[in-house]
Amino acid sequence: MAESLFVPETSNRKLIYDEIVPQIESLVSGESDLTANLGNIAAALKEAFGFFWIGFYVRKEDQLVLNAFQGPIACTRIDFGKGVCGHCYSTAKTEIVPNVDEFPGHIVCSSRARSEIVLPVFGADGSVEMVLDVDSDKFGDFSETDAEGLGRIVKIVEKLIGKKL
Ligand code: SME
Repeated sequence: MAESLFVPETSNRKLIYDEIVPQIESLVSGESDLTANLGNIAAALKEAFGFFWIGFYVRKEDQLVLNAFQGPIACTRIDFGKGVCGHCYSTAKTEIVPNVDEFPGHIVCSSRARSEIVLPVFGADGSVEMVLDVDSDKFGDFSETDAEGLGRIVKIVEKLIGKKL
């Protein structure tokens, strides 16, 4: 297991994703516990990008429930279809929100959050098993580069799914 993360000193996010994705893959490869791996993935993303909040909401019965995260305390349960996370769950599509104040029904966990990206994570049966939520304290902070880079992280998580939380 890697003991430290190498993050290139650049503001070019694509270069950072290119550097950290293989390191994250190696970081989780020797561990079978999904929660431990989700925790390290959230920590690695926080270290690499300094995002305001990063975390996973996992489907449990009929809600999304807070799981591993980095950042300020957050809402613990989100109903399907509610907020950006619940919307992403229901549509099964990545959602980029440049200004959270303009997203109908956005759930405010912190008044400092300004923009957000949420990606669905699919289980082996093709249903959405969890979502990856990343919040920024800057407006318009997420682009297709993040959708693509975080999408590579999601693929790593999808490979891990099947092992129990
Ligand atoms: N803003 C999210 C809720 C989760 S927090 O941002 C951590 C939403 O609208 O679903």
